[in-house]
Amino acid sequence: MLINLFPTTIYRAEMPEYVNWVKSQFKNHRFTEGLTGELEGKVLVHQDTHLASFFVEVNEHVRNFLDDMNCNYDAHFMKTWYAWSTEQKPVPNHHHAPAHMSWTYYLEGTDPLVFTQDSKNEWFPEAFAHVEKNFFNSTAWQENVEPGTLLIFPSHLHHHTYNTGNRGCLAGDILLTNNNLNTEGGLIHPQYWKQF
Ligand SMILES: [Fe+2]
Repeated sequence: MLINLFPTTIYRAEMPEYVNWVKSQFKNHRFTEGLTGELEGKVLVHQDTHLASFFVEVNEHVRNFLDDMNCNYDAHFMKTWYAWSTEQKPVPNHHHAPAHMSWTYYLEGTDPLVFTQDSKNEWFPEAFAHVEKNFFNSTAWQENVEPGTLLIFPSHLHHHTYNTGNRGCLAGDILLTNNNLNTEGGLIHPQYWKQF
């Protein structure tokens, strides 16, 4: 008998009704270098009032995710950018630390997003490298996507693409803060911060 102890959980929702509108607003956040707006400072898409209703809905899904975890934190959309990749321009394995929660909303393509994690079950490095994969020994999860798919995941979770074709998305990073001053955990709300 095997007993599984701890899960890794991501959140998924479908929001197909926003695809065309979000795609059309790229015109205001355009960049020329690289795969993402991050290299040219085009990372404040959440401030765009044309996209307010979209962000309200993404925020509701973030709240649902927090509810599922029995958590009540304030979610701050701190960085949001468009990203376009092709078969020739792959998205390498990476994570979004130091954010807490990250998300990606698909605008184009069906290239799956692959999440990876070192296996807590692996007794030594590469122990599972050459065995047929099952639930207990796998270190990668492929999530199939289509335009309109929203994925929310812990920022520390590594992810990459296979680059089977063009891929377009709006991606973002969220910080979670604690509005309750009477608890020790987490960051306190920025309304209490002071910069000198
Ligand atoms: Fe990413």
